[in-house]
Amino acid sequence: METKDEEVAAFISRIFNEIVSSPLNLALLGAIGYVAYKIVATQMEERKVKPEEPPLPKLRKQDMTMEQLKQYNGTGPEGRVLVAVNGKVFDVTKGKRFYGPGGPYAAFAGRDASRGLATFSVAASEEFDDLSDLTPVQKESVKEWETQFTEKYEYIGRLLRPGELSRNYSDGETEGESSEEEDVSRPKAE
Ligand SMILES: *[C@@H]1O[C@H](CO)[C@@H](O)[C@H](O)[C@H]1NC(C)=O
Ligand SMILES: *[C@@H]1O[C@H](CO)[C@@H](O)[C@H](O)[C@H]1NC(C)=O
Repeated sequence: METKDEEVAAFISRIFNEIVSSPLNLALLGAIGYVAYKIVATQMEERKVKPEEPPLPKLRKQDMTMEQLKQYNGTGPEGRVLVAVNGKVFDVTKGKRFYGPGGPYAAFAGRDASRGLATFSVAASEEFDDLSDLTPVQKESVKEWETQFTEKYEYIGRLLRPGELSRNYSDGETEGESSEEEDVSRPKAE
């Protein structure tokens, strides 16, 4: 009496014989194999490429004017992307998929995103925006966004009003929690 396994084996060998006996089937099998190979190879290639994008070195801590901020819209040679929220500038390069060129929030790149985030609009002014006309609810929303950005991204410095001077981040002067490794990149003065 045939067992289940033997039945299955006989079935498979019959199919195999049928496939092998027809050149057309062989060609189809080859085509299927080739497509499968391409799919697997492509997936492996994608997996290889992704982690190879090295993170950029940290940007030195500094305050920025709108003019300076504007240069970091992701199209520069480094591809670095900065976004300001509630008067603070953050390096969002690791979120480039969203804020970089072609991303859904590209309009925020190199800009102050506060008003846009608070009003659910992906648009940002080129001019300094003091946000004073936002409603209390919108101001609260901007603060919450600032908290999220602080948790997720590197803080670079303050966004300067026109005519406002940058503070000195040079000599061991610390500002809250934001001074951990900043001295590493600086040449030792004196
Ligand atoms: C990004 O900034 C560069 C230099 O300031 C500018 O030429 C370019 O048009 C900007 N791109 C976008 C998408 O805003
Ligand atoms: C910043 O430091 C430099 C020297 O390190 C000094 O010449 C300059 O006046 C300082 N600026 C401010 C705003 O304190």
